[in-house]
Amino acid sequence: MTPRLDGPLKAAGRADYALDRTFPGMAYGYVVLSTIACGEIEAMDVTAAKSTPGVLGVYSPFDPLDLRPTSTPMLGETWVPLRDKEVAYYGQPVGFVVAETFEQARDAAMLVEVSYRERPARTSMEDGLASAEQAPPGRDGSPNPLEILTPGVESFEDALAASPVVVEATYRTAAQNHAAMEPHSAVAVPGEAGLTVYTGNQASTMMAGELAGALGLEPSEVHVLNPFVGGAFGGKGRTSVPAFLAAAAARALGRPVKAALAREQVFTATANRPATVQKMTLGADERGTLIALRHDSWSSTPMDRSFIEPTSHGTSREWYATQNLSISQKMVPLNIPPTTFMRAPGEAPGSFALESAIDELAVALRMDPIELRTRNSSAAPPGKDLQWSSKHLDECFRIGAERFGWARRAPRGHTDGDWLVGVGTATAMFPALRFPATVEVTLRADDTAVVGTGGADPGTGLLTVLSLVGAESLDIEPERVTPLLGDSALPPGGLSGGSTATASTGTAIMIAAAGLIDELLAVASAPGAPFEGQETSYADGRVLGGGRSMTFGEVLRAVGRSSLAAKGSSAPGEELTKHSFSSFGAQFAEVRVHRLTREARVSRMLGVFDAGRIINEKAARSQLMGGMIWGVSAALHEGLEVAAGGRFANADFAGYLLPVHADIPDVEVHFVEYPDTLHNDLGAKGLGEIGAVGMAAAVANAVYNATGIRVRHLPIRIEDLL
Ligand code: MOS
Repeated sequence: MTPRLDGPLKAAGRADYALDRTFPGMAYGYVVLSTIACGEIEAMDVTAAKSTPGVLGVYSPFDPLDLRPTSTPMLGETWVPLRDKEVAYYGQPVGFVVAETFEQARDAAMLVEVSYRERPARTSMEDGLASAEQAPPGRDGSPNPLEILTPGVESFEDALAASPVVVEATYRTAAQNHAAMEPHSAVAVPGEAGLTVYTGNQASTMMAGELAGALGLEPSEVHVLNPFVGGAFGGKGRTSVPAFLAAAAARALGRPVKAALAREQVFTATANRPATVQKMTLGADERGTLIALRHDSWSSTPMDRSFIEPTSHGTSREWYATQNLSISQKMVPLNIPPTTFMRAPGEAPGSFALESAIDELAVALRMDPIELRTRNSSAAPPGKDLQWSSKHLDECFRIGAERFGWARRAPRGHTDGDWLVGVGTATAMFPALRFPATVEVTLRADDTAVVGTGGADPGTGLLTVLSLVGAESLDIEPERVTPLLGDSALPPGGLSGGSTATASTGTAIMIAAAGLIDELLAVASAPGAPFEGQETSYADGRVLGGGRSMTFGEVLRAVGRSSLAAKGSSAPGEELTKHSFSSFGAQFAEVRVHRLTREARVSRMLGVFDAGRIINEKAARSQLMGGMIWGVSAALHEGLEVAAGGRFANADFAGYLLPVHADIPDVEVHFVEYPDTLHNDLGAKGLGEIGAVGMAAAVANAVYNATGIRVRHLPIRIEDLL
C-alpha cells in the first residue's frame, strides 16, 4: 500500500509537465487544421498571417519544415505533418504558425487562408461496410481469416448446423478519443549537441529515435525528457504532431519552441479508437458446451490503413475452449482522423461483442451466465498447444459471485421503487506481455540507491514500482531508493504500453540488482578492501563476512568510491515456447434504469482479477478502477459522432460525454494473487488495461437483466431503453 511518489507533486501542481517548461527566448507554435475531410490543398495564403505582429514563421506543405518520414521498430511508420498536400480527414494538421507569444501565434493561425480542391469524403462506417477490405494478420501472427476446426469437421457451417442452440447477433461500438488530461504538447530546445524535447510519451528512448529520424539527426542528438505524463492510454505511443513541429521549428529558428494542441484539436490531430461492427455467431449443445464460435469484425481505419482495432483476434482468438473457431477482421477506410492503440485495443470493444453474445447464449440456454463461462473456460488458446501458465478465472468468478451477491440475481431483474434493477457479468482477459527493457541500478556511498530507466510513467505508477522493486531487490527500504525515468539519456526502458512496464522493467531491475550485489561483494573482498580475502554475502543492505557486517555505503566509502552501478536487461524469451500468458478477471455490474425517464445508472461495480503478483496494491487498484470506469464510460457515455462533412460533432468536453463522480458508484476491486514466475521472475502479469475489458458488456448485460432490452451498440442511450 505505497502512495504514489509523484502523487503529492501532481496534486500540488509541482510536477513539471512538458508544457510547464519555459526557456529564455522561447517562441510559441499553433497548429492549423484542415476544414475539409477529403481533397487537395491548392494554395495557402499566408500573407496576412505573416504580417501579423510577432510572427516568426508560417509553415505549410508549400513552405515546409525539415521533416522526413520516420518510424520505430515497434510501431512502424508514423505520419509526419506538413509533408503532403492531400487532406484525408477534417482536422488534419496542414500548417504551423510560430510567433513570439501564444496569442500572436493563435491569432495569425486564424488568418491562414487555405484553398482546397475538395473531393467527396467517405465518412460513414455503415456506408463503408460494403467495400470493406481484408485486414492484416492478427498481432500474434494468426492468419486472417482464421478457422480452427475439430478434426473430422468439414466446415464451420457444419459445426454450426450440428449445434442445437445458436445465437447470432451484430454489435457496434463507437469511436473514442484519447482525451488525456495533458493535451499532446512539446517544448523543443536547440542546443550545441542537438535538440532537447520535453514531450509527454510512453517511451522516451523510442521517441528520441523517432524524432531523430524525422529530423535527420542521430538518435544520440535528440534528448527526450518527460518525467511526468498526464495520461497516454496508447495515444502517446508515437511522436505527436506538436512534438514534430516544435522540434523542426526550433531547429529552423534556432530558438526554443513550445507547441500544444488545443482541447478541440486533440480530437482530430492525434489518433482515436476506431468504431467497430462485430458479428457474433455462437453454437452450443444443450448443456452449454461451445461447439462453434464465429467472430467477424469490421474496424474503421484512416485512409492510410495504419491501424485497425483487432477485436476478433484480440478476444475470440483465445478466450473460450470452443470446438470450432472462425474469426475474421476487415477494415473500412474512411476520411476520419487517424486511429491507434487505445487502452486494451481489441479486447475493450471485442469483449463487448463476445461477452454480450455469451450472455445472450446463457439466456437462450436458460443457464447461469457464470456457469456457461466456467464450462467453456480455455486451458490453452484454441488451436495452440501451449497451456496458460497460470489461470484462476474460475476463482475470480467464484469470489466475485459471492462478494457481489450473484445468487440473489433474478433472471428478469427486480424493482426498487421506480427503478428497474439488474445485474450483469463478463469475463475480462488481456495478454500478459513483456517488452525488452534495460535498467541501471546504482548504489551510492550515502547508503542510498538509484534505479533508472528511459521508460515512462503516464500515470500508471511505474515510478513507484521502480522504487519498490529496486528496494526489494537490494533488500533495503523503498525510501532509500530514488527512481528515475522519462529521460532518453537513461538506459532504454520498455514501452509503457501493452500493460508491460512492471513486468519488463521489474525483471530488468532484478537482474541489474543481482549483478550489482555480485560486484559489490567483489569490491568488498578485493585486496585492500574491508573484507579482503573473506567469504562474503549480502543481506539487508549490508555486506557480511567474518562475523561482522558493513552497509554498502560504508564499504564504498572504505574503498574510496562514491558509487557502484550495474545494468540489467530483460526481454521475452524461452518462456514463450512453453506457455501462453494472460491476465484474467471477472467483472460485475449492477444497473438501475428508471421506469419512466429510462436513464441508466450503474449502482455497483466489482472486478476480481488474476494478474499475477501485485507489486503496489494501491496503485494496482487505482489502475483497475480507472479501467472499470472507462468500461462504464464506453457503455453509457463515450462516443465520437461524425457529422456532415466528416467533422466530429462533439469534439470538446461539452459534447464528448465522460462519466463524472455522480455517474460512478463505489468501485470494488479484488485480487486473487498467484505470482506467475513462469512468465517472469517478478511474477507480475500486467494489469494496466484489463480493467477496461468486459465492463461495458457487464453493464449491457445488466441493462438487459433490468429491462429485458438487449442493446447491441455502445454507448447505450436513453432512447435505446424507451
Ligand atoms: Mo496501451 S493501448 O499503450 O495503454
